[in-house]
Amino acid sequence: MSIGIDRISLYTPSYYLDVCELAVARGVDPNKFTIGIGQDKQAVIPSSQDIVTMGANAAIRLRGDIDDSRLGLVIVGTESGVDASKASALYIHELLNLPHSARCMEIKEACFGGTAALLVARDYIAAHPGKQALIIAADIARYGLASGGEVTQGGGAVAILVSENPRIAEIEEHTSVYSGSIQDFWRPVYTDEAQARGKYSTEQYLEFFEHVWLDYAHTMHAKPQDFAAFLFHLPYTKMGAKALRKLEELTEPVTHLEQRFEQSIQYSRAIGNVYTGSLYVGLISLLELDNSLKAGDRLALFSYGSGAVAELFTARLVEGYEKALYYHADLLNQRTQVSVNEYESIFKDVVPYAPQDYSTNPRYYCGDFVLTGVVGMERQYATRSCAEQPIASAACD
Ligand code: COA
Repeated sequence: MSIGIDRISLYTPSYYLDVCELAVARGVDPNKFTIGIGQDKQAVIPSSQDIVTMGANAAIRLRGDIDDSRLGLVIVGTESGVDASKASALYIHELLNLPHSARCMEIKEACFGGTAALLVARDYIAAHPGKQALIIAADIARYGLASGGEVTQGGGAVAILVSENPRIAEIEEHTSVYSGSIQDFWRPVYTDEAQARGKYSTEQYLEFFEHVWLDYAHTMHAKPQDFAAFLFHLPYTKMGAKALRKLEELTEPVTHLEQRFEQSIQYSRAIGNVYTGSLYVGLISLLELDNSLKAGDRLALFSYGSGAVAELFTARLVEGYEKALYYHADLLNQRTQVSVNEYESIFKDVVPYAPQDYSTNPRYYCGDFVLTGVVGMERQYATRSCAEQPIASAACD
């Protein structure tokens, strides 16, 4: 049975910061950010956007392809959870009016959560032929003002509809996994800012990549030439470039992979880190920007979640895949640039980690769905059209 990615959609909020301006404000050479780290812009996430609204904003485009009688599973992979108990998938379930017969849940393992959701969905469909699964990888990468990780911040969501006979790519059966408890990156429950041992996490990423590649190559007798492209988890795009060099060190020259690697990092250069979604932002970027790929081409995807779990899996493009894509260049190009001062004030205006009521700033409402605030410790979600009406109309009740 062929199972895989039937549709894939990306959402990122309407505001961005130019990292060269950030570099100047922080007293850093801009080349460090654009060349050394490999970023150009980063998404700026207003407090009216969280993993629920961004996930729903990404998934709304897939709604017309969801067959309510076949949708059996909705999973959100995230490390920016908004509740320690209730799954964000349920808020999204309500916003999208999804069928009550679908299981809804949230998966956590740092940036690996999106891949965990995707591969669970694949196995679910193998066990339940004919079903569909909706998976969402949504995150806000937040390290703190003037922190070492600040330049790699970003955010957004990727929604994937997984089904039999997919229109974009079949996920192949064999994968290689490597798990082990390490302390490279974590986020205590009382803060929304990640704690990272930056250099150590970079080293561990490469070490985990080595483990899974060597295992995959050994088991499947694989070599880089078997693949049209390698896609990497991209906490910042230079990280992917380091992984490509590591592959070369372990095997053979990978010149044939370089041009497509460049295509795969373009959207991440403009958005920044999307944690669970980053690998899939890379996939979307490659598929939408490269016009030399063809049906039957195989892609290798490397997923890494700090803490840490790594998995290498592969996918095969299907005939006519390009017709099933949405093309997101406009979403990125039509965003509004904010100054460093404005970014800092948006950054500081967050839902408090305390039980007081709170209202988000309507000035930065974007997308189809918004968080309007928190009342009595309950988050209030709405369609933007309703949230922007001065007096709630009957249609919005
Ligand atoms: N021009 C061009 N390149 C420059 C430069 C300049 N003026 N100044 C520095 N660089 C290069 C450095 O040589 C280095 O390149 P290299 O990695 O190829 O050696 C790169 O820029 C980064 O510089 P460095 O001083 O090592 O970075 P840093 O101390 O600011 O930390 C991170 C970088 C990524 C570790 C930091 O942003 C971080 O902690 N990020 C969050 C954690 C993370 O993303 N982990 C990834 C694994 S999940």
